[in-house]
Formats: sequence, structure tokens, C-alpha cells
Amino acid sequence: MSFDAIAPWYRSLERIAFGDQLQRCRVACLGEIRAPRRALIVGEGNGRFLCELLRVHPTAEVDCLDASEGMLRLARKRVEQTSPDRAARVRFIHDDITSWTPPSPRYDLIVTHFVLDCFREPELALITKKLATAATEDATWLLADFCIPVGGFARARARVWLTLMYGFFRATAGIEATGLIDPAPFLQAHGFALTTQHQFKGAMLKSESWRRNSLGSAGCQPAHLGSLPR
Ligand SMILES: C[S@@+](CC[C@H](N)C(=O)[O-])C[C@H]1O[C@@H](n2cnc3c(N)ncnc32)[C@H](O)[C@@H]1O
Repeated sequence: MSFDAIAPWYRSLERIAFGDQLQRCRVACLGEIRAPRRALIVGEGNGRFLCELLRVHPTAEVDCLDASEGMLRLARKRVEQTSPDRAARVRFIHDDITSWTPPSPRYDLIVTHFVLDCFREPELALITKKLATAATEDATWLLADFCIPVGGFARARARVWLTLMYGFFRATAGIEATGLIDPAPFLQAHGFALTTQHQFKGAMLKSESWRRNSLGSAGCQPAHLGSLPR
């Protein structure tokens, strides 16, 4: 899998397909979380979320990991152009999350925006376990992703969109996933509980904040709390 070929077009494609909805979704929970000391962004892409994280949380140190050199180059350029004074707080890591070994100390913020949906279930299980191990006992996990609304026209529309998108990303980036897998049970299994959810584009997009508590998975709440339709 490689996003190198579509990295230069990713921003334009996003704008054509979703306008500003994906970016609103990425940053929706950012102002609501506890200020992170040490953050890990997995599959950041072209740096739009990264710049907002650096702006909203001015003391956060950020590790930004992506398997695509093209995406990392764009992210670095965006930080250097828009917020050069914040660039020293970022470490760019060109690696594959499935084989990467997290360093210590651990992260109190994990971010996986529109990336977990690239993987099939065995890889998703491996990645969530690795990230949970790399996270502190009271870590926050921000997750933005597509989802399938419960019923009606919105559900049918989301299914069509997802079929088109999976076809597109399988053809252009070689992703192996063929359909959306709900990551919620994986996060819950590692002691994270959903604290906030915002929805966008008729509930086809969700932005979630998960928090780990010291009780572990036994202390988890159900995955679906209130949502704030936009
Ligand atoms: C669909 S894009 C999402 C980009 C961005 N996070 C966003 O919100 O739009 C998936 C990103 O994850 C990266 N990625 C895919 N597989 C990866 C892997 N195994 N390890 C690290 N990054 C990966 C891709 O290079 C790409 O930048």
C-alpha cells in the first residue's frame, strides 16, 4: 500500500468530494481534550490536522508517522510554511505502523484520522494493540472516520460513497481493506471508552474522543454516547 501517487492530489480530491467536512471532522474534538504532552499521529497525510494540533495545544510534542514519503513531505512543508515556530515540536517518522516499534516514554494522545479504515481486521487488531501499548494509562485517542448511518436515505448514500471510495483507494493506493470495520470494539478491549462523538455529512462522518481509564476494559462505557449532528 502506498499513498505516494495520490499525495499531490489528495487535498484537491478531498475538497471536490467533501468540501471542508473532513477537516471539520478531524479537528472537532481538538479543543475539548486535555492538553497533551506527547502525541502520536498515525497516517497524518498532508499535515492539515498536524498544524491545528500544534496551534491549539502549544506545548504538545508530536511524533507524526506515515508510510508515505510524499505525504510526509507535504506535512513538513505545510508546518514550515504556516507555523515555522512550531516545527521544532514535530518529529516526522517515515515508517509502516504495522512494523514500527514505538519508543518510550509513552504517548498521552493517539490520533488515527481516516487511517484505520485502510486495514483489514487482523491488521486493525494488531495496530490498535500496538497503539494501546504505546499509550499512557490515561491517554486520549482521537479518531475521525467514515461510518454507516443507522437507516434511511443516509445509510444508502453512505454505502454508495464507501463502495466508490474503497474502489478508488484500492486501485490508486493499493489498500487491502474492502469495507469499513468498526474500530470501537478494539479500542474498548484496550480499556478506552468513548467520551465524545460529533457527526457530519448526515452521520456519514464521525469525530470521536476516547479516553482510557485506570479500570481497564472492565470500566468501559458503551461505545455510543450522545452525538451532535452537524
Ligand atoms: C486515507 S489517508 C488519511 C490521511 C489523513 N489522516 C486524513 O485525515 O485525511 C491514509 C494515510 O495513512 C497513511 N498510511 C496508510 N497505511 C499506513 C501504514 N501501514 N503505516 C503508516 N501510515 C500509513 C497513508 O500514507 C496516508 O497518509
